[in-house]
Amino acid sequence: MDKKLKEALNEQLNNEFFAAYTYLAMRAYFEDENWPGFAEWMKLQSEEEVEHAMKFYHFILDRGEQVQLQAIGEPKPRYDSPLDAFKHALEHEQAVTQRIHDIYKIAQEVEDYPTQVFLQWFIDEQVEEEQVTGDAVAMLERAEDHMGALMVLDRQFGERSPDDDDDE
Ligand code: FEO
Repeated sequence: MDKKLKEALNEQLNNEFFAAYTYLAMRAYFEDENWPGFAEWMKLQSEEEVEHAMKFYHFILDRGEQVQLQAIGEPKPRYDSPLDAFKHALEHEQAVTQRIHDIYKIAQEVEDYPTQVFLQWFIDEQVEEEQVTGDAVAMLERAEDHMGALMVLDRQFGERSPDDDDDE
């Protein structure tokens, strides 16, 4: 495999673990602030990111390349509000989308077709990730600081199940 592509895939493996870590930090924030529904949403999101990381892990190995695990960065520990946390989540997903597109571009340049096929799943996934997180931000913006509305959303977000994303 092309060296630059191999490095980019390993870097994305790390990014996905950083995403898992970021959502775990958001879960901890929500648990600390007594928002069990938002915390549950972040728990599932964090677990999903580990699955994403492992997809890169297996793909790199399947291609006969070495997995190079790197240090995971420290995520932001506190947020101003549920809206603030979800806004950060959306920004994070937008950045991930950009990185996936950048890796896809490298795979095109070096004519690595299996990587292009592999990344297709992530390109689709990112459309969904941005849509779901963007919807969450929109709902929280509408709720503003109204405690009653936030409590309804907290309950609603807590009903997310691991298969929800596949159904949409
Ligand atoms: Fe692995 Fe949320 O993208």
